[in-house]
Amino acid sequence: MQFDSNSSVPDDVAARAAELRAEINRANRLYYVEDAPKLDDAEWDGRMQELISLEEAHPELQTPDSPTQRVGATPSSGFDEVVHPVPMLSLGNVFDEDGFKAWYKRALDYLELESTPMVCELKIDGLALAITYRDGVMERAATRGDGERGEDVTANVRTIRSVPLRLEGAEGTIPPVMELRGEVFLPNSRFVELNAEREEAGLPAYVNPRNSASGSLRQLDSTETAKRPLDMFFYALGYVEGAEEEDNLSSHWSILKSMGAWGCKVNELARKVDSVEEVMDFIANTGEQRETLDYGIDGVVIKIDSISLQRRLGYVGRDPRWAIAYKFPAEQVETTLKAIHVNVGRTGALTPWAELDPVVVGGVTVGRATLHNKDEIARKDFREGDRVVVQRAGDVIPQVVEVSAKNKRSADSVPYEFPDACPSCDTATVQTEDEAVTRCVNATCPAQFERLLEHFASRGALDIEGLGERVAQDLTRLGFVSNIADIYRLHGRREDLLELDKMGETRVDNLLQAIEASRSQPLPKLLFALGIPGIGSESAEWLSRRFSSLAGVRDATEEELLAIDGIGPIVATALIDYFTIEQNRLVVADLIELGVNPIDDTPEPSADHPANGVTFVVTGRLETMSRSEAQSRIKTLGGKATGSITKKTNYLVAGAEAGSKREKAQRLGVRVINEDEFIAFMDGSVVPEREILAPDES
Ligand code: IVH
Repeated sequence: MQFDSNSSVPDDVAARAAELRAEINRANRLYYVEDAPKLDDAEWDGRMQELISLEEAHPELQTPDSPTQRVGATPSSGFDEVVHPVPMLSLGNVFDEDGFKAWYKRALDYLELESTPMVCELKIDGLALAITYRDGVMERAATRGDGERGEDVTANVRTIRSVPLRLEGAEGTIPPVMELRGEVFLPNSRFVELNAEREEAGLPAYVNPRNSASGSLRQLDSTETAKRPLDMFFYALGYVEGAEEEDNLSSHWSILKSMGAWGCKVNELARKVDSVEEVMDFIANTGEQRETLDYGIDGVVIKIDSISLQRRLGYVGRDPRWAIAYKFPAEQVETTLKAIHVNVGRTGALTPWAELDPVVVGGVTVGRATLHNKDEIARKDFREGDRVVVQRAGDVIPQVVEVSAKNKRSADSVPYEFPDACPSCDTATVQTEDEAVTRCVNATCPAQFERLLEHFASRGALDIEGLGERVAQDLTRLGFVSNIADIYRLHGRREDLLELDKMGETRVDNLLQAIEASRSQPLPKLLFALGIPGIGSESAEWLSRRFSSLAGVRDATEEELLAIDGIGPIVATALIDYFTIEQNRLVVADLIELGVNPIDDTPEPSADHPANGVTFVVTGRLETMSRSEAQSRIKTLGGKATGSITKKTNYLVAGAEAGSKREKAQRLGVRVINEDEFIAFMDGSVVPEREILAPDES
């Protein structure tokens, strides 16, 4: 991307672009950092659209602080190394009041003081980042790495909404060059959603929010990072040029306040305190609040407030004398690892899990826990029969941490041998270098196939009632089906099916009927049902609309795939790989031959229809069409039809008995239109104004 300040652009256009950038950046700050939105979504969209068109017409106008840069940049082949101008050090730990008092006394003795103010902050469980701002504009973002050298993740960090691309503030309050530091994290609630989506797309789940934040930040394709709801708290000033003795930077507390004023998100729970008692109160309060926070913390950081005292205190080894981490105990329990099992997932990933003597961890009984992967078992040398330490990661997913210090092994205990063949089909497994995952790559593996069949029939896919886990297993193990398409041949084997366990006449007939009915499911459902890695229900819709048929998708080139908005290199490669496998091509051919070949004849949305890119919610009873018809018309024209009203909704289409949605729309200032207005809108004849009522006028 070029950030060239060539001046062939008319002055008024350049001025307008600058004004739009400033307005949108300010609006983003109010929305993402201060949680107090000022612009409504329509106003925001309008400005963003205007800016995008200005920048398209005059690419020279694209500046690094333009909000249009948050969508992600061209994928990189790796990260450049960054040498930190001031090393990013670690923190010493204490675990109890005595440990803390001893630290504080050492610091006071060193300074020959009786007491000195401190700042207490939460210790966020994420990844440290250093972001350089030059003349207030974000220039570079680097990970901590080994503390001396990190990785340049600028393109990815640009996509994080709570990171200002340009700092705000009066002239002279922002040092010309400075580095702000803080912690990137993924909110717990978003972590759960992200894993659900990954599972749907057949990707391995992340272990905890911290790992997923790290994985998200290290995506080579920043459009992928842009899709992850990363967030950041700022907590320190690193390297600074030119403004060292400023009042607003003379204490840690004033640095936090200044960062807040510049538009950086600073954790609002931080407190300035004067005594050990206050520190202990802060720690106790934080411990109690921990469960209710939407981000992981693993303790409290206590910092000496005065920057000049911090300088005098300096460092011992890699730890500052002026700050300390008070670590919370992780909720850990010991139990016996009874056995190690290996699951084979739909995409062939072999996931080891531990069968445990059930124990209560963090209020929940845990009988099984993940062991992550082959390397983890080898590194920690987990063996069947061991006493092990169990905890709930990110306080959510149970995991086995380590072998207990008290463990005693019998003479015949041997290291666990991870199967080098698939437990289901005995095919040799593979482990690619860049993945920790061991996979069975046999396209005809029964375990994978059972999972796939279950997925194929699941509600979000072809929705074949009666084809759940057990029936999928029976059909596969008894040889009724050996590829997905075979289920459409079952109607010829009604008598044999009646022999199946617990399958009476009614069940068999219902199953056969549900299978027949699934033939008429639309193409996106079928594409999703195939279980192609990386293809979720949304990307299935895009593919369907672009290529119209199963054969069309199969024959798509990488170039064509990449041209689709929302499909990045990872998904494109996954699709190409999928259709390179002979077995998969045969299944597709088989489906087509059996007449399971839905055609998507939805015309591609024309980019200039006024509904393109607009978000609708349809509610109530419409006279001339069903709600789903209305929704599909919206989608055909390139709009979005969602289920619930948020500030992002542009229009509520309200039919009869619209009820609570209408009230909510009015409360949020979302424009409500009736069926006639909607039809005129869809015909392109009248675009209802998006003017929003002030909340008190409704
Ligand atoms: S201050 C030398 N403040 O903890 C000063 N660090 O164990 C070090 N961390 O690498 C940074 N929350 O990633 C500081 N409020 C906070 C923090 C924090 C989390 C992390 C940071 C650092 C690690 C040190």
